[in-house]
Amino acid sequence: MSLTLALPKGRLFLQVQEYLNQRGLELPPLGRELVLTDKNETLRILIVKNSDLPVYVSHGIAGLGICGSDVIYESGGAFFELHEFSFGATRMCLAAKRGNTREEEGPLQRLRVATKFPVFTRNFFNSRGIPVEIIKLNGSVELAPVLGLAPYIVDLVETGSTLEANGLEIVEELENINVKLIANPAYYKIYYKDIDAFVRFLKENS
Ligand code: PRP
Repeated sequence: MSLTLALPKGRLFLQVQEYLNQRGLELPPLGRELVLTDKNETLRILIVKNSDLPVYVSHGIAGLGICGSDVIYESGGAFFELHEFSFGATRMCLAAKRGNTREEEGPLQRLRVATKFPVFTRNFFNSRGIPVEIIKLNGSVELAPVLGLAPYIVDLVETGSTLEANGLEIVEELENINVKLIANPAYYKIYYKDIDAFVRFLKENS
């Protein structure tokens, strides 16, 4: 039988595709079609928006998914985490315009932060007892300090080139983010033999 695996569109899809291709699970190039199978029909692949991936897995539409720990955390869902991949590691960072310092805000001032990750951001600042006002964005977060929407952002930094290109810098690294294989717990209980074989295959070939 083939396992159903949700993959996110975009940068991560290309990394997963390259990773699976190198291990003989060849995926077709991504076109407009959103349901694919690998060459050997081992996997049925659903192509979904990154932030929607946990929705498909938690509803069991896809039994498995590959996504960043940022997306898993943000969803609040309960998943089995079966494997951590060696590619795609990033950092969740607090960033601001170059030269901006937090002291300028005053100790009791609420920190105004724009982010695609409101759950992470709220929990992070709450755990430090720092009052925070969160402005939720869906992309191009680096624009917020440049245009004066918020002096701070919490966002993923991989190479740092987006920050650099927009005159921003890291204030603090908040968390390491890794790409993981997750499973719907009920799906895992039914198909654990096939899933364990797939996970073994990934671990032996990582
Ligand atoms: C991500 C992230 C940063 C950028 C970081 O955005 O939110 O904007 O990549 O990468 P870098 O450090 O290598 O420059 P993404 O490309 O997913 O686009 P988005 O801003 O539209 O969400």
